[in-house]
Amino acid sequence: MKKSALQKVRAEYQPKLPNDLQGDVKIKLGEATESVSDQEAIKSLFPHTYGMPVVQFEQDENPQRVEEPFNVGIILSGGQAPGGHNVVSGIFDGLKKLNKENRLYGFLMGPGGFINHQYMELTAGYIADYRNTGGFDIIGSGRTKLESPEQFEAGLKILKELNIKALVIIGGDDSNTNAAVLAEYYKNIGAGVQVIGVPKTIDGDLKNNWIETSFGFDTACKVYSEVIGNIQRDCNSAKKYYHFIKLMGRSASHIALECALETQPNYCLISEEVQAKRMTLDNIVSSICYVISERAKLGWNFGTILIPEGLIEFIPSMKSLIGELNDVLAAHGEEFEGLDEASKLEAIAKYLTAANAELYLSLPKTIALQLSLDRDSHGNVQVSLIETESLLSEMVAKRLAEMAEEGEYSGKFAAQHHFFGYEGRCADPTNFDADYTYALGYNAAMLINAGLTGYMSSVRNLTDSPENWVCGGIPITMMMNMERRHGEMKPVIQKALVDLKGRPYLKYASMRETLALNTLYQYPGPIQYFGPSEVCDRPSMTLLLEHNKEI
Ligand code: FBP
Repeated sequence: MKKSALQKVRAEYQPKLPNDLQGDVKIKLGEATESVSDQEAIKSLFPHTYGMPVVQFEQDENPQRVEEPFNVGIILSGGQAPGGHNVVSGIFDGLKKLNKENRLYGFLMGPGGFINHQYMELTAGYIADYRNTGGFDIIGSGRTKLESPEQFEAGLKILKELNIKALVIIGGDDSNTNAAVLAEYYKNIGAGVQVIGVPKTIDGDLKNNWIETSFGFDTACKVYSEVIGNIQRDCNSAKKYYHFIKLMGRSASHIALECALETQPNYCLISEEVQAKRMTLDNIVSSICYVISERAKLGWNFGTILIPEGLIEFIPSMKSLIGELNDVLAAHGEEFEGLDEASKLEAIAKYLTAANAELYLSLPKTIALQLSLDRDSHGNVQVSLIETESLLSEMVAKRLAEMAEEGEYSGKFAAQHHFFGYEGRCADPTNFDADYTYALGYNAAMLINAGLTGYMSSVRNLTDSPENWVCGGIPITMMMNMERRHGEMKPVIQKALVDLKGRPYLKYASMRETLALNTLYQYPGPIQYFGPSEVCDRPSMTLLLEHNKEI
């Protein structure tokens, strides 16, 4: 593999390992745990893995155990997130520290490789090329849902064949929920296989009192903030465009909020707020037009507007439309195949209730068609394919024209559109993510060695320097509650949406009017890997604020 100058030097970076994981480690058991809610239901579904204690590691001055060699398998699941390769190298180094004979196998292209027995052994030489790099290409990732006993049994065959004692699933909330189900299944049948989860997703919505952040969020937000900053400088130089910038994050608005804190745009929509205030599409358009018309009064016909990817599903009226469209497409999808665009819209609208049909047909045609595209494997609309940024700017342009006719607006409006998502998912991890993921992986190896199953690798105290990070494991059942999914009550890890009472949101909300009526852009610049610690090692503003630190 030919490497750039940066890649060559960066490959030498040795992630900082927390003191707790240095040398030999011993385990400290905490109190028995309960799930966040629905305790009886979760307990009955996880009789073998419910109630286990939180565990913490610390240095062992008098190690007594002689470690027997063992083999481990790993799966990368779902969307890419910066740092995945360091989770793998952390697990590998942890395993080799325990016993040089330990082996690591990677299942290829996500859970699918586990079920279909596609795998490779990960050796020191192979892993060396991937240390501190972005991407999941070391073994590939996939979105196959690992949830049925048939799949668990198919996977068990290959685990037994390779003499694998533990499986590590690196994924988001759904994949970690499935890791808990798999752990329970294997324990119940006495399979002798442990399952450990690692919290991954750029979306930042896998977090709670015990998991401070998912890996990848830090890097992805810094990549997006760099380019938003660049756009803002361009915007402030030419002073002629409004930039509508959509940011990834399938559901929660953590990424948009973090980027708003980093770059201070003129406006940032927060989906959770839209939902809480029961805002309509019309209300959202009005709120943007307010910013634009007030700035026009000051002589400014330029600005930046951040839009979270998942916005559309948080607008109550759109949510109801999308829900109904999901059902209609599932039941009648074939009838619409081959129809021209106009006939397709008419045909679909006939199956909708009156209010939803009216909204559907009032949308710009391109958006209505995007909402009617095929669903993903979970039956969800693929929000990354919906051009909300164009939808909003089109509606804003129309409204501004009406306002101009009524003498309420006299500015000029020209829009540019951007979507930042895939650009950030495979960036080389920041020092924070490189260290965090390496520690998560190394820690996962220690959890396996301690014989645990149904745990998520946890590294906490992340706003302190890495030496002082606190390492251990959290029972996954502790993070679960019951939620309705596809018409059935299911045990799932609670997804963390933006907390409207939390410090990150309140900080942005306190600046919002000032940022709209001034031009106070911040230009964070590119990620730095070498240089002063305050430049290279600073965690996300979200994490700092959530931990009562100043930004
Ligand atoms: P995960 O939750 O699996 O980490 O993926 C998150 C995400 O990056 C979302 O932000 C985005 O909506 C989605 O994946 C895009 O999915 P795909 O890669 O399948 O296009």
